[in-house]
Amino acid sequence: STYDLLIKNGTVVTASDIYPADIAIRNGKVILVGQDLDTALAEEVIDAEGAYVTPGGIDAHVHVDEPLKLLGPVADTMEEATMSAVAGGTTTVITFATQDKTKTGPEALSDSVKADIELYETQKLYCDYALHLILFHIEKPSISGTKLLDSQLASMYENYGVTSVKVFMTYPGLQISDYDILTTMQATRKNGFTTMVHAENGDMVKWMIEQLEEQNMTSPYFHGVSRPTIVEGEATNRAIVLAKMMDTPILFVHVSSPEAIDTIRSAQTKGLKVYAETCPQYALLSDIDTKCHHELEQQQSTCSDANKSEPRVKLTAKEIDDKFIGAKAICSPPIRPEHCQESVWKAMNNGTFTIVGSDHCAYNYYDKTSGKLDAFKDNKNGEFKYIPNGMPGVCTRMPLLFDYGVLQGKLANMTKFVELQCTNPAKLYGLYPKKGSILPGVSDADLVVWYPPNYKGGKKPKTVTNDLLVHGCDYTPYEGFEINNWPRFTIVKGSIVYKEGEIIKENAKGTYVKRGKSQLCTANDEWVTEWRPQYLNGQKSG
Ligand code: URP
Ligand code: ZN
Ligand code: ZN
Ligand code: ZN
Repeated sequence: STYDLLIKNGTVVTASDIYPADIAIRNGKVILVGQDLDTALAEEVIDAEGAYVTPGGIDAHVHVDEPLKLLGPVADTMEEATMSAVAGGTTTVITFATQDKTKTGPEALSDSVKADIELYETQKLYCDYALHLILFHIEKPSISGTKLLDSQLASMYENYGVTSVKVFMTYPGLQISDYDILTTMQATRKNGFTTMVHAENGDMVKWMIEQLEEQNMTSPYFHGVSRPTIVEGEATNRAIVLAKMMDTPILFVHVSSPEAIDTIRSAQTKGLKVYAETCPQYALLSDIDTKCHHELEQQQSTCSDANKSEPRVKLTAKEIDDKFIGAKAICSPPIRPEHCQESVWKAMNNGTFTIVGSDHCAYNYYDKTSGKLDAFKDNKNGEFKYIPNGMPGVCTRMPLLFDYGVLQGKLANMTKFVELQCTNPAKLYGLYPKKGSILPGVSDADLVVWYPPNYKGGKKPKTVTNDLLVHGCDYTPYEGFEINNWPRFTIVKGSIVYKEGEIIKENAKGTYVKRGKSQLCTANDEWVTEWRPQYLNGQKSG
């Protein structure tokens, strides 16, 4: 037949338009978008009457198990993470490969990426994936170091289409100096790479942790206390200054605080190419919900938030007894006080945030073999500084933003939803228009068909439960959150991989995707001040 799959009668949403149309798919691509397409020409038809049809989500910030295990024992293999992704309407994930410090020379970074791809080739993948690289060690910190890094990035792009690196301004072992950030930016600028920055001042955090330990304040709650919003604000400002000196674009990942948002906004207003990602947890969770609030109450025997509404996350009796429950919400930057959420929503709507990523980085709460709390293993006593940072979220990113954003009016409209979750991630990371859009003859048929608003069938989920998310992790921080819509069909390259709550295993055809260069993080052609060195090869001079 002419069409492999035809989606009839839906309301198609892109980052710019909302209109009634049918979508015809053939050989994994969208081939036609139009009205009254003939069902007789289609091998399979989905009736999307009354429902939105959006591009599949692109989650550009996901951590899965990788060969070097730099972030420790994360709960999900790529297989589990991609299954969880499609169960929540995400059809492409970009995960992190880490630099292998034992490799040296021009192919060092390329070979680090290769090891990841070889591992994931052995797994069943439910959606496509691409890779960023975590760069935490500059092989030669000098002028010759820039040239080496330059060639390392070039070969990583040439061989594997990796076009972004993430650097850390915090975390022992990962934190790099301002000097090394400049070196990185010079090389990323030259290669048209995107520089992703984890902006928290690691020295401030180290100092705070020592102060807290001195006072025995080591329970999970104090993780957030050790990294106040000013820690993120300072690092954000400093990184912008470095990018300005290097006349290069910069991208902040997992932005959480009003301080950072204001700093980013004001740089954007001045015309600097500053881009930013936030995550659902910073819009929807607060320290009162998740950070051992009850334990703190018991310790202090008063509740400082007595006038505040009760936590939205409903804890079971067992969980209330669990003094350690706040460990589930430990991530960096930390979950903020509730009043910070408003700035996060505002910045999603007014363009300060370019994308929403999940920062899915799941660790099991209970150790799989002993059944004991994972963070008490190895004589670590549950001190917050030993608890791995991160929480699951690859499945819930799309439905939470749909429900709590679009349906509750916190997100301006459906086109904004698609822009933040699908289209801008593709443009930012060199996947557009293959991904993130519904362009006939051009885009992969990666689509989500949502439920019609009045749908009464039994399969539509009503609340978030951990089982719904089919990930490798034993909890979700969103347990019990009410859900008014959810992806009904998730389609990857024309194949239905998720249908009304069921994963369709035999349709899993995910592959590695080479990326192009960012369409947003594009450096200016000319150096803007006299002192800057000539581009290598004499292409441009100062
Ligand atoms: O706490 C977090 N965000 N863990 C994941 C690693 C990172 O910094 O993105
Ligand atoms: Zn980070
Ligand atoms: Zn209370
Ligand atoms: Zn992350």
